[in-house]
Amino acid sequence: MKFYMAPMEGMTGYVFRNAYQKYYHDVDRYFTPFLCSVGLSHRELQDVLPEHNRDMDVVPQILTNRAEDFLKIARRMEQFGYERVNLNLGCPSGTVVSKGRGAGFLGMLPELENFLEKIFDQCPLRISIKTRIGVQDPGEWLRLQELYNRFPLDELIVHPRLQKDFYQKPVHLEVFAAVAEQSTAGVCYNGEIHSLHDFERFHAQFPQVDTVMLGRGIFKRPGLAGACSMFLQDEAAAENEQSREAFEILQDFLAELLCGYRREMGNEKHTLYKMKEVWTYLGQSIPDGARQVRQITKAKTIAEYKIAAREALRSWEEKCCLYN
Ligand SMILES: Cc1cc2nc3c(=O)[nH]c(=O)nc-3n(C[C@H](O)[C@H](O)[C@H](O)COP(=O)(O)O)c2cc1C
Repeated sequence: MKFYMAPMEGMTGYVFRNAYQKYYHDVDRYFTPFLCSVGLSHRELQDVLPEHNRDMDVVPQILTNRAEDFLKIARRMEQFGYERVNLNLGCPSGTVVSKGRGAGFLGMLPELENFLEKIFDQCPLRISIKTRIGVQDPGEWLRLQELYNRFPLDELIVHPRLQKDFYQKPVHLEVFAAVAEQSTAGVCYNGEIHSLHDFERFHAQFPQVDTVMLGRGIFKRPGLAGACSMFLQDEAAAENEQSREAFEILQDFLAELLCGYRREMGNEKHTLYKMKEVWTYLGQSIPDGARQVRQITKAKTIAEYKIAAREALRSWEEKCCLYN
């Protein structure tokens, strides 16, 4: 089984990836948040520079509906030494969709077909696709699947929601069952695996799917990929995993993240913003953790943040298992 880290704009940039790779070694492949400027913005460039991505398998993700732009960015990635790129056909946000990009491109089949023909013909790198299953109706998937099957995809990563579902509506597992059966490319599943129980349920239903991409689940429980791998080897050990060591690793990981963001941002306010964002997800795993997270979000300085974070971790360690 392989585990991928999902691209999450503003969250899974190189600082997060490096801290994660240092303390958790269970993600096989990372995807950058989407790149959309042909010239690469400062943030995009920093995110893909080879020196910021050593000893990790990283795939740059591209968001565009213009084949020339996709190819220009891909060639730049080739110069940096990347072997593959990923096409974003999933972003549901209104501003992206209204320009016919991301999940919005799924509603423009002739244009999408034309685009895929050009990029698969001319791109020097392998191309994977991360896609939703349609815009408005699950019935749209059939034609999308037929289209994808015509191209030599590196892999097909499917988040089985429609564009209109955004991030909260239930995933369409009945459509994913069809994907798993009909895709001619290797399939990776993504969506709502936020705990070990979620993974157990998914694996029981789709034992043949050997690649899973984790997004918010990694923010709620950073050791989730490792717990899932352990579950596949020894179910009981994974269920009981709540060792002191696991909390120490989490503490060290958070300290590394703080250092990394401080270096990247060079500014206390922005660093705090980043750490608070991480804790809004982490805090969801602490039973009755709202008070602790409130304390963290109230912190005005890094010193205050550190005290509140230490208290939250201590309370978490007392109360619960890390992964379920
Ligand atoms: C804040 C945020 C930013 C995201 N940014 C991206 C992105 O840049 N590219 C992308 O393909 N998906 C993006 N996604 C979608 C995730 O990659 C993933 O598909 C989604 O969160 C569902 O998986 P999960 O339930 O494991 O989180 C984003 C999601 C969130 C919540």
